[in-house]
Amino acid sequence: MTEPTAASSAEAGTAAEATAAREAASSPEATAAPEAPDTVLEVRDLTVDLRGAAVQPGLVREVSFRVRRGGATALIGESGCGKTMTAMSLLGLLPREVRVSGGSAVLEGTDLLGLSPRQLARARGRRIGAVFQEPMSTLDPTMTVGDQIGESRRIHLRESRSAARVRARELLELVGIPNAAARLRAYPHELSGGMQQRVGIAAAIACDPPLLIADEPTTALDVTIQAEILDLLRELRREQDLAVLLVTHDLGVVADFCDEVVVMYAGGVAETAGTDELFGTPRHPYTSALIASVPTGAEPFSRLTSLPGRVPAAGSFPAGCRFAARCPFATDDCTRTDVYHDLATEPTRCLRVVRGEITPEAAA
Ligand SMILES: Nc1ncnc2c1ncn2[C@@H]1O[C@H](COP(=O)(O)OP(=O)(O)O)[C@@H](O)[C@H]1O
Ligand code: SF4
Ligand SMILES: [Mg+2]
Repeated sequence: MTEPTAASSAEAGTAAEATAAREAASSPEATAAPEAPDTVLEVRDLTVDLRGAAVQPGLVREVSFRVRRGGATALIGESGCGKTMTAMSLLGLLPREVRVSGGSAVLEGTDLLGLSPRQLARARGRRIGAVFQEPMSTLDPTMTVGDQIGESRRIHLRESRSAARVRARELLELVGIPNAAARLRAYPHELSGGMQQRVGIAAAIACDPPLLIADEPTTALDVTIQAEILDLLRELRREQDLAVLLVTHDLGVVADFCDEVVVMYAGGVAETAGTDELFGTPRHPYTSALIASVPTGAEPFSRLTSLPGRVPAAGSFPAGCRFAARCPFATDDCTRTDVYHDLATEPTRCLRVVRGEITPEAAA
């Protein structure tokens, strides 16, 4: 199975720097912070920067969240808010010019951010499965479906070719591919987009990882197929106890599939909440704007209709609250206060909600 192109650049580009910094963290297991028993992944204060920039834009700043066993946590926000950078940090697939500069991401006792690129490459597939918007970014067009699903088991679990093939067939059945025995011999281009994504999911979970990271896995698919893929992921959560970190800009998908939500804005977390709580009583004006921009609750947003302006680009983030220029509730205090540091322990990074000056209802 091939990785997205970022994989090779990340590994080549980071070799010297990351080996020195990360392999020095000799035993990530020993230093990892304790997690709640049902927590599979605990991310704390993840910070991602550009390498060598004189002034750091803070592509991702102090992002914290967790994913529970069998649960699903969503990362939502408009395009450019840092969702993919966050996900790619956990997979060790950041572009060459970008690096993790702080925080921890503990997966079942191991801090992923303390692993060397080589160790992270081993964890991908074995302990973390990944699916992306374009299934062909992870599927190898030159290999049959059966070979690429089986390859993961042969490499990570040292399984024999024949045993891997048997499991590949079972996995195709598990992800709902009809006539699995014949499909093992098919090449990815012979399948529809929905079937390719199912194969991508089968390959991602081939070694029974506890965590699946899915970055916009249904965005390229039509609505019916989208629902089928979400049903499949729901079944895998229930039956395999799979934990899912779902990156999406589609609030309908969040409401339908996730139990916890991390709302990202301009590289930081605006608010973290349970799904019902988030939709019922949003605690950040940005969350309210996201919800207001989806009148039917089922359509994805790419830009907000309820608020003017755009997400500020990395490198031109304003001081204080990064949402201030678009926020109908902004006061001078908002641009003077570093909400990321000053409100680090609050469930919302909105100064005025924390102070009780505006209520979630008023913000909504
Ligand atoms: N290779 C890169 N180098 C520098 N900045 C980048 C790179 N790729 C993305 N960015 C910037 O990082 C920020 C976060 O991007 P991304 O994580 O892709 O957002 P999202 O997935 O939420 O749409 C954006 O401001 C984007 O312009
Ligand atoms: S801190 Fe101020 S500008 Fe930022 S979201 Fe809250 S009210 Fe709006
Ligand atoms: Mg993205």
